[in-house]
Order: sequence, then structure tokens, then C-alpha cells
Amino acid sequence: MQQPLHNLAFESASIMAQGQIHQPVLVREVLTFLAPERGGIFVDCTVGAGGHAGAILAASDQVQVIGVDRDKTALAVARERLGHYGQRFRAIHGHFKELSRILEALGVTTVDGILADLGVSSLQLEDPRRGFSFQREGPLDMRMDQGQELTAADLVNTLPEAELADILYRYGEERAARRIARAIVKARQKRPIETTTELAEIVRRVVGRRGRIHPATRTFQALRIAVNEELQDLETLVTVAIDWLKPGGRLVIISFHSLEDRLVKQAFRRHAGRCQCFPPWPSPAEARCPRCGAEHRVDILTPKPVRPSQAEVATNPRARSARLRACQKRTPTVREND
Ligand SMILES: C[S@@+](CC[C@H](N)C(=O)[O-])C[C@H]1O[C@@H](n2cnc3c(N)ncnc32)[C@H](O)[C@@H]1O
Repeated sequence: MQQPLHNLAFESASIMAQGQIHQPVLVREVLTFLAPERGGIFVDCTVGAGGHAGAILAASDQVQVIGVDRDKTALAVARERLGHYGQRFRAIHGHFKELSRILEALGVTTVDGILADLGVSSLQLEDPRRGFSFQREGPLDMRMDQGQELTAADLVNTLPEAELADILYRYGEERAARRIARAIVKARQKRPIETTTELAEIVRRVVGRRGRIHPATRTFQALRIAVNEELQDLETLVTVAIDWLKPGGRLVIISFHSLEDRLVKQAFRRHAGRCQCFPPWPSPAEARCPRCGAEHRVDILTPKPVRPSQAEVATNPRARSARLRACQKRTPTVREND
């Protein structure tokens, strides 16, 4: 159900008062790659609470930021935090796969840099009503966009056992996926599973305690990815983002688990012209491979993903699994322009 806007404004003020603001990761590295001190238009496709967007805006008074998020509560927080930048900051509700529609509607033709900081924010994780965390009792919701219909409770209570196991295995890399799915189906035969803590307890009983991470971590990650279809549109994001960059413009993506990072790495390689076929297309640097679509549109700036320093992880444990990749749009050569 959609929340009225006045509730969102109230909520954002109370979130800020409680100091639950999301601490952005790898800020220095994001600024190094995006180089906003040059000025220009930057898009933050996952603006969240506006931490990265604020750092980009602060780099130069010649910078504008378009902040996109599918979560209206996060957008309200970003608007409140960055409102003092006036027209230089615009907050738009939407999914990053709609980037073209969003930029066209704003009359933008090209942009200087694009950032996507994937995954959930602390605002979402720490609000028990959103149902993202197994550590806080709340409804099994997990929707990033509160206007979406499908919730985690729908998946948990209606999916066939095999499909549930498949989600836990694929998106959570959970080795006990089948046993957990069986336990979920058994429990829901008595009554629907409605809360985060109920589900966490079912998983804990199956898996037991393993090491430092909570036994329900992988199950919750898998359900969150499935509810929000987090992996489906990453490839589209990379392609569309590169379309909108000016020559010399940069794309920076921060991911938080290996499934996301692998998709970003492969998409970057394809757009860097690295043919993935066997045998490879004879001259992928000159043209588009007709089979895998490899075409040399960007240069990769990060041969290996950039990881946070130990000092950053010590102050912000959420940064632990962050991996940043960046690429730069090529300037077409004269021949390519012909
Ligand atoms: C890790 S947080 C970003 C935090 C932000 N960089 C900051 O400094 O506050 C990720 C945000 O991306 C949003 N998000 C995730 N997938 C999205 C998508 N496909 N389109 C738009 N926003 C998305 C989430 O709602 C969340 O607010």
C-alpha cells in the first residue's frame, strides 16, 4: 500500500532524529572515480539516505545530482538532508531500469557520472516494520518499493517447496536450502509464517549455530533478492548507464555479494569489448560481436574490485563485503564516428 507523503516526511524527520542515518561506504573511492570536482550532471541510481549524493554535491558548486530510489521513505530522507542544495539536487522515485525514461522526462541528454550502491540501506534494515532483519521482530515484508505487491511472506507461504529451495540455494548460496525449505513448508501447514523472528527461528532449528554469522543470514538475503528481483536488472543498468554517459564519463557500481559482483564484472567486460565466445570474434575491439554483444564502449578502471580499508570496516562493519568497480566511456575514434 502506498504511504501518504506527509507520513513519509514525518517519518524521515523521526529517522534523522534517531540518528539511524545510513553510513555510506567507500566514499573517498567513489569521489576519486567519479571526479565530481570537474562539475556536471551526476546520477545516483540508488540515492538512499543521500550520503554519496551529498559528498558529490559538496565537491563543487557546478555539480547537479539526480537521485533515484525505489523506496519513498529513503527519498524523503535524502530530500530533507540535501534540500539546502536547492535545484542542484533532484530526487526521483523510480527503478534504475527506468533510467532512460527518468532522464528524458528531466530533459537531460547526457551525464558526467553515474553511481549505483546496490543492496539495502541501514534505514531499511533497522526499521522493523520493513521486515528486512531477522534480529528485529516485524512483518515478513522486505519490499524496497512499498508500492510493490509481492512480499517475502507471499513467497514463504505460497511457493512450492522446490522453488523455495532453489531461491535459497541460488540467491543465498545456502547449503541447507532443501532442509530449510522442507521445514518452512511443514511450519506453514500449521499456520502462515508471518514474522521475521518466526522465520529466523525455523531456520535456526534446521541449521543450528555456525560460526559468527547468524544461521538465518543467507535465507534472509535470498528472500530479499527474490522479492526485489535484485539481480534481474543489473545487466540492463550497466548497458543503459553507459548509453547515457558522455565520452570520458564514469560509471561506478558498489556491490555487496558475489552474485552481484559477478554480474557487474561480466557486464563491464562485455562493454569493454572482451568477447566471451569460443572461438572469440576476430576483432571485438573494432566492432560488436554478433553472438555475445561484446563491444569496446568503455575502459575498465578497476582491473580488480576496490575493497574498503580495514579502518573503514572497523568504523562501518557493513562495508566489510563492499566491492567497487568503475569504468569510463570511451571517446569514439574518428573512424568509429564515420
Ligand atoms: C545501499 S543503499 C544506498 C545508500 C546511499 N548510497 C547512501 O549513501 O545513503 C541502496 C538503496 O538502493 C535502493 N535500490 C535498490 N535497488 C534499486 C533499484 N533497482 N532502483 C532504485 N533504487 C534501488 C534501495 O531502496 C536503497 O535505498
